[in-house]
Amino acid sequence: MASLTIRKLDENVKTFLRLRSARNRRSVEEEVRVILGELIEGREEPLTPFTAPPAASATPIPQRTGALPEAGVTLIIGGGIAAYKSLDLIRRLKERRIEVRCVLTKAAQQFVTPLAVSALSHERVYTDLFDPQSEFDAGHIRLARECDLIVVAPATADLMAKMANGHADDLASAILLATNRKVLLAPAMNPLMWNNAATRRNVAQLKRDGVVLIGPNSGEMAEAGEAGIGRMSEAIEIATAAERLLRPPVPRPLAGKRVLITAGPTHEPIDPVRYIANRSSGKQGFAIAAAAQAAGAEVILVSGPVDLGDPRGVTVKHVESARQMLEQVQAALPADIAIFAAAVADWRVANEGEQKLKKSSAGMPPLQLVENPDILATISKLTDKRPPLVIGFAAETEHLIDNAKSKLARKGCDWIVANDVSPATGVMGGDRNTVHLISRKNDEKDGEIAVDSWPAMTKEQVAIELVAHVAKSVTGKSREPAS
Ligand SMILES: Cc1cc2nc3c(=O)[nH]c(=O)nc-3n(C[C@H](O)[C@H](O)[C@H](O)COP(=O)(O)O)c2cc1C
Repeated sequence: MASLTIRKLDENVKTFLRLRSARNRRSVEEEVRVILGELIEGREEPLTPFTAPPAASATPIPQRTGALPEAGVTLIIGGGIAAYKSLDLIRRLKERRIEVRCVLTKAAQQFVTPLAVSALSHERVYTDLFDPQSEFDAGHIRLARECDLIVVAPATADLMAKMANGHADDLASAILLATNRKVLLAPAMNPLMWNNAATRRNVAQLKRDGVVLIGPNSGEMAEAGEAGIGRMSEAIEIATAAERLLRPPVPRPLAGKRVLITAGPTHEPIDPVRYIANRSSGKQGFAIAAAAQAAGAEVILVSGPVDLGDPRGVTVKHVESARQMLEQVQAALPADIAIFAAAVADWRVANEGEQKLKKSSAGMPPLQLVENPDILATISKLTDKRPPLVIGFAAETEHLIDNAKSKLARKGCDWIVANDVSPATGVMGGDRNTVHLISRKNDEKDGEIAVDSWPAMTKEQVAIELVAHVAKSVTGKSREPAS
């Protein structure tokens, strides 16, 4: 079968193919394949030679669909020398997965062509307020609203004057007046224009109206020998500012803090195949680890045997027994915050069998138990590496608050998260938890004990709430630097 070299095609056909493929987001080769398929099926799009720029082509504004990238920007390009930088801006926005639909003012078309803008944005370009093909369904309103942000780059003195005064006599100004989206302006003009009293008034008005400005920067002007404030911000700066408005940074109140968390049960071996365990699933501790990580903390999770995947971005140390857990906890110090959510076995078998215990005529083997190390008390009573905030969990089946209050005093920790784990609650292994945060008023050493009872929540919600309390408490407190 003959192959086709696109390079050797007629210029008009090549231009047509480039535009059509850009509009349909296909490679030129794929577009040729589609056209040939359509021809064979008799559904061809007329192959009229390219004569007019795409802005004048008669296609209505396509609806944004769910399959498109997460964020969309309507980019208005004004008539200034800096318009050439908007071509780079389109690329910078697209590499951030921001879809870009461009509008060119009449003056902008003197500096950049709709063809170049269309090829880069992979979209049709809009230039005319009175375009019957896009205005049949109020296209300017859709361009104003079917986006998450409007960026004007370059924002000319003229466009800013129109905006500040509510003009709407062309497509760009009509969109800016009709929008209910945030608007980001990247002004660019001669320093004298920027410093002119009229521009100063317009800028002040626009700021009052909630419009966000980036730049202008200072530097050399296109005009020979002129310098000052008026250069448009670089494309990358504008794209970053747009992204910040589209995807505001998530607050990270625990950034720079190291959080140590324990979770799950411990398994205390009887012999190589048997162990003593409890019903803890580890879900609450894992949820706290994930929430602390999301809040920006460096998280070390020491987990007993659980059936859960490691939370993303968390360092997980897997252990079996209480003694191994204590070892890993000590190795993870120093930390700013320690949250001991694991259900650590209080006892272990004194003489762990080296071989599997066998049934014998002597009857049941006696299981002598000895006390396990108390991880919460050990860490709370450290003098050198004690984390500034130590939180224990109290899983109780009766006298919940009283037991938790005495645990707070006995263990020497700062807070206790008390939860009722009686079988009827379904907390052990379940997805919900009802907790009481027990602490000392104002976090004072001998302060009165305060009980903050939270409503029943998912373990994830409990985790988020606890991390929020932690973040509020530790702001300003820091661990001793690692030796
Ligand atoms: C070569 C040239 C460069 C221009 N550069 C700028 C500029 O950087 N900033 C500006 O505000 N106006 C500039 N202008 C003036 C605008 O093009 C003019 O005010 C136009 O009406 C703006 O239209 P618009 O705001 O609809 O795009 C320039 C004009 C010319 C001829």
